Amino acid sequence: MNPSIVTSAAPPNPFSCALAASGIAELIAQLERELVGLAPVKRRIADIAALLLVDKMRAEHGLKGGAPSLHMCFSGNPGTGKTTVALRMASILHRLGYVRKGHLVSVTRDDLVGQYIGHTAPKTREVLKRAMGGVLFIDEAYYLYRPENERDYGQEAIEILLQAMENQRDDLVVILAGYKQHMDRFFASNPGLSSRIAHHIDFPDFGIDELARIADLMLETMHYRFDHEAAEVFGRYLAKRMAQPHFANARSVRNALDRARLRHASRLLHDPLSVADLATLSTITAPDLLASRVFDAPAEAAPQQEESPC
Ligand SMILES: Nc1ncnc2c1ncn2[C@@H]1O[C@H](COP(=O)(O)OP(=O)(O)OP(=O)(O)O)[C@@H](O)[C@H]1O
Ligand SMILES: [Mg+2]
Repeated sequence: MNPSIVTSAAPPNPFSCALAASGIAELIAQLERELVGLAPVKRRIADIAALLLVDKMRAEHGLKGGAPSLHMCFSGNPGTGKTTVALRMASILHRLGYVRKGHLVSVTRDDLVGQYIGHTAPKTREVLKRAMGGVLFIDEAYYLYRPENERDYGQEAIEILLQAMENQRDDLVVILAGYKQHMDRFFASNPGLSSRIAHHIDFPDFGIDELARIADLMLETMHYRFDHEAAEVFGRYLAKRMAQPHFANARSVRNALDRARLRHASRLLHDPLSVADLATLSTITAPDLLASRVFDAPAEAAPQQEESPC
C-alpha cells in the first residue's frame, strides 16, 4: 500500500482524517486488496487522490488553483487491468468531487468516428454528452488516427475531443488506453493530444506469481478453490501459456478458469461416483486443468488467438 496516502501506523493529522472522512482511504485499501501487483499504478492513483483532497482543503481556505488536468493515458498489454483501473478511477474522482457522477463511458473508434462526411461530429458530441460528469474511456485510442486513409474522419473526432478536454476539464476526465508502442506512435503524430494528457501510466505485464495470485482471487470471488495438486498444475499451465502467442495476462487467467469450471462440471456429471457436497462442488482438481490443450500443444502449434487454448 502506498504509504504516502494511507498511513494506518502514522498518527492522524487533519489530512489523514479528511481522507478517512471522504471514503477514499477505503477505496484505496480496496484497490490494494482486490488488485494484485500494479504498484506504480496504485501509487499514481494515491498521489492523484492526495492532490485532489489537498486541493479541496485549499479551496476551503480560499486558495483557488483551478481544476488540475486529469486526463490520462493507460498503456499496457492486453489484460493488464487498464479497464478495471479506469472504473476504479471514476469512483475515486467522484468521491473526491472532481466529477459529478463518476460513471465510465467506454468507447472505441467506431463510437466516435462516422463513415460518411458530416457523421463524425454528431457521433463524437453525443458520446461526450453521455460522458460529461464522469470518465470517457477510449480503448485502443490509436485507431482514431489513420494517416494512411485519405478520407479518414478520425482527425475530426480528435479535434472535438481536444476542445472538450480543454474547456470542460473540470467535469470530464478522458482516459486513452492501448498498447504502449501504438500509443507512443499515436502521440508522436498528435502532439496536441499528448500535451493535454497529464498522466501517462504504464501497466506492466504480470509475473507468474502475480498471475497465480490473481487466479486465487478470481477463484475466491467465484467460490471455487484449487486442491493442492491443481494449484501446482496451474503454475505449470501458466508457465506454458505465458510463452505462447496471444497471451493476455489476467484475461488469460480468467479464460483458463472459465474453461476449468466447464471441465469440472462435466466431470461431476459424468462420474458415477460423484457426490454433491460442498467440497466437490467447489474444488477444481488437476484433471480439470490437465485436459487443456496448452499441455499438449508444441510451441509451433500454439493457439492462434486468445480463445483457442482450451
Ligand atoms: N491486478 C489485477 N488483480 C486482479 N485481477 C485483475 C487485475 N488486473 C486485471 N484483472 C482482471 O483481469 C481481467 C482483465 O482486466 P482488464 O479488462 O481490466 O484488462 P485490460 O488491460 O483492460 O485488457 P484489454 O487491453 O484486453 O482491454 C478482468 O477480469 C480483471 O478483473
Ligand atoms: Mg480493456
